Amino acid sequence: MRVLITGCNGMLGKDIEEIFNSKHNISGINSNILDITDRGRTINYIKNSNPDIVIHTAAYTDVDRCEMDIENAFKVNALGTRNIAIACNEINVPVVYISSDYVYDGYKSTPYYEYDLTNPINVYGRSKLEGENFIKSICSKFFIVRTSWLYGQNGKNFINSILKMAKDKNEISIVFDQVGSPTYTRDLAESLLELISASDYGTYHITNEDYCSWYDLARFVLLDYLKLKNIKLEPITSEQLDRPAARPKNSRLEKFYLRLNGYTQLRSYKEAVVDYLRSFYL
Ligand SMILES: NC(=O)c1ccc[n+]([C@@H]2O[C@H](COP(=O)([O-])OP(=O)(O)OC[C@H]3O[C@@H](n4cnc5c(N)ncnc54)[C@H](OP(=O)(O)O)[C@@H]3O)[C@@H](O)[C@H]2O)c1
Repeated sequence: MRVLITGCNGMLGKDIEEIFNSKHNISGINSNILDITDRGRTINYIKNSNPDIVIHTAAYTDVDRCEMDIENAFKVNALGTRNIAIACNEINVPVVYISSDYVYDGYKSTPYYEYDLTNPINVYGRSKLEGENFIKSICSKFFIVRTSWLYGQNGKNFINSILKMAKDKNEISIVFDQVGSPTYTRDLAESLLELISASDYGTYHITNEDYCSWYDLARFVLLDYLKLKNIKLEPITSEQLDRPAARPKNSRLEKFYLRLNGYTQLRSYKEAVVDYLRSFYL
């Protein structure tokens, strides 16, 4: 298939490009080639590329900056997604829209199912949900894939941040009251490859299995895996960290439709994190 990927220089986009490359004919869009907020150019570009499917990963992903830059967050995440949706619908090809655990408010005490009520508590989440709404109302063939806590070789992420902090500091404060499933972008890309092989359109949750808090993840990386001796981890609350954007306390996503449709469940987050760390430390 001819697969067109938006956000191909991003953390997830790069891994999708690499992993899809052996099976599909890939082309990528970055923001230098095309600004997806430009409706006319986006529609023309996608039509002229004549893809069989579009994987839409491009987004305004700085969650805290979205709080101050509301219009641009909605321009990219909502209207940019609308433009992609119009183009895909006009040429009658499916779109895969990468969405987020941040469409939920996190007040549920158990994992979220794909059909649970969405209620974002920050600007980023609201703008991503608007993207979903445009996809659903414009496209007849779509996959909406909600994922969480991404990390990978090609972008800023929590694991890289704590590795860097561990070099500079002896004591690191980490939030313990948000739980979710850290998800390796390479594993997500493999799962998307399987997903697009059939036409089981709809909304999916895709993350690595099992869950933890950010504090647990830091412990696992720095103390259990790297066995750093001189680091003290201090558990703190989200309120103590006081970031501009509120985060859902519960980001656990039930992979209900992945399971129901018979697709491969991803491996445990711990196994994936170890693989990721080995790519640096072996
Ligand atoms: N990171 C997470 O923890 C997480 C969690 C859940 C869901 N998601 C979703 O997963 C997807 C991938 O996330 P990521 O972390 O890989 O993101 P990322 O590394 O920030 O990459 C996003 C890409 O979007 C592109 N982009 C931004 N504005 C654009 C515009 N106006 N026109 C064209 N391209 C534009 C950027 O391209 P340039 O580099 O060329 O400027 C950037 O490379 C996003 O949809 C995000 O919402 C992420």
